Amino acid sequence: ARLVVLASGTGSLLRSLIDATRTDDYPATIVAVGVDRECAAEGHAADAGIPSFRVRLRDFENRSAWDCALTDAVAEHEPDIVVTAGFMKILGSAFLERFGGRIINTHPALLPSFPGAHAVPDALAYGVKVTGSTVHLVDGGVDTGPILAQEAVPVLEHDDEATLHERIKVVERRLLTEVVAAVVTRGVVSDGRKAVIPGDRT
Ligand code: GRF
Repeated sequence: ARLVVLASGTGSLLRSLIDATRTDDYPATIVAVGVDRECAAEGHAADAGIPSFRVRLRDFENRSAWDCALTDAVAEHEPDIVVTAGFMKILGSAFLERFGGRIINTHPALLPSFPGAHAVPDALAYGVKVTGSTVHLVDGGVDTGPILAQEAVPVLEHDDEATLHERIKVVERRLLTEVVAAVVTRGVVSDGRKAVIPGDRT
């Protein structure tokens, strides 16, 4: 299967997905990486010989034009699945119409707790003892799509945002890699809120 990965940041999740797709028995390859800004993720793509493209919001007169441009740029690579891994933009209606149901996101909290761009500091500030990682299908909301997999991660006494986020990312990297492979090989059955990968523990 053909994956396009969208990223905006350090790209450690992208890097782990690149490593996974290079093993012979992994059922997908990354055909392109898309970013919305200059970021380290572009470097990881280049190091792996994977083409990357940049679609920056500020290069367009409005968000809808940006959304259409991003949709076209991704569509050129004919992905079976789009993975957003640290992509810090909300995907618009053009993108969702084109790829809806085939967009997988990873979020560093146990949704529906702590949606949005500050999930890790929000969990720390709230004082939860357990947070975690969620892999879900992307819908029109902010981190609201049907959940595919979750795993709990403990919050430790002396955690700060960096130590907690890194502990979550260790889980995210494994969970995202597993879920993408499972979706590619067994598909997803989703009706409304529920999404099930046949044969998965639900
Ligand atoms: C991940 O925790 C992801 O869930 C969140 O941003 C982080 C990206 O990390 N949206 P990296 O850029 O892949 O290291």
